[in-house]
Amino acid sequence: MAKRRNSGFPWSEVLIVGVIAMLAAGFIGVGIGWLARGDGGGGGSTSAASSAPASSSAQSPSSPQVPEEVALGAHAFNQFACAQCHGDRGVGGVSPDVPALQSIASSLTVAQLSSIIEHGAGVSSNPTKPFMPIWHGVIAKPQISELVAYMKAGFPQVAGATPLAVPAGQGDAVAGQALYQRYGCINCHGPNALGGVPNPQSPDTVIPPLVGKEFHAEFSDQDIAHIIRSGSVIGKAPIVSMPHWGTILTDAQIAQLVAYINTLT
Ligand code: HEC
Ligand code: HEC
Repeated sequence: MAKRRNSGFPWSEVLIVGVIAMLAAGFIGVGIGWLARGDGGGGGSTSAASSAPASSSAQSPSSPQVPEEVALGAHAFNQFACAQCHGDRGVGGVSPDVPALQSIASSLTVAQLSSIIEHGAGVSSNPTKPFMPIWHGVIAKPQISELVAYMKAGFPQVAGATPLAVPAGQGDAVAGQALYQRYGCINCHGPNALGGVPNPQSPDTVIPPLVGKEFHAEFSDQDIAHIIRSGSVIGKAPIVSMPHWGTILTDAQIAQLVAYINTLT
């Protein structure tokens, strides 16, 4: 039992303790730096979060923080093309047939606003101008509350809550693909226009696909353009119907949507 270093100062222990202390100090330092970046923000820092489009949402230094419910509503207001018909943050100015919402929303009750989103605002069976779409079953109930919370909060600016940009100069089908999301077609006709979103009150019971042999046998390019422009209500209103996009989408944009739909077989 040879004790080789049984005397003198225990240097090895000092070394280990020292290394542990340095590591701990390092972690604390990193932690402090991280915390400082997390809550301050506006000091012109180049943190990735301030330029990331998706994740910055309500936390962005460029907008005052809003409750998450309101932020969700602001994003839904773009997802469901409310902004594309009623104007950015409901200021109007898109079409003479679509009212601004900023002043109206404050005078309507939560129940009235929820009912208008879910059941529309009086659609005719033969729409000749834009009407408020009926979203029953398409927009989830909690999302309707979030949309109403956003409107009741006065349509605050929320970072990242903007409609998808449409790429220019890459051809009609590329533009159409972006328009298909920007104008919320995807919410009703599904990704890749596969259809199948439930619409129990309609004779079809689902929202139709815009792909497949049957669809192309029934609808020529002109027919597709016509139904996008004019909308269609089949069945007893109010049911989820094809909105009327004339005066909201231009003829060129409608042609781009047709070009995109034709790339999906
Ligand atoms: C296709 C265009 C379009 C889209 C998309 C749309 N709206 Fe509308 N909305 C209208 C039109 C047009 C009216 C006017 C009433 C009517 O003619 O049906 C209206 C009316 C309203 C009203 C009642 C305003 C009043 O004067 O009483 C509210 C509230 C409203 N919309 C909220 C929304 C919300 C929230 C969304 C998104 C979920 C949305 N709208 C999406 C076209 C649209
Ligand atoms: C609120 C849900 C909704 C939205 C949003 C919507 N559609 Fe529709 N669309 C429908 C329904 C429902 C029909 C079936 C109409 C009918 O049978 O009366 C339809 C029908 C169509 C048709 C004819 C196909 C058929 O079998 O009837 C085309 C083409 C079409 N939509 C394209 C679009 C495009 C492009 C957009 C986006 C600019 C869009 N739709 C947005 C609900 C919607």
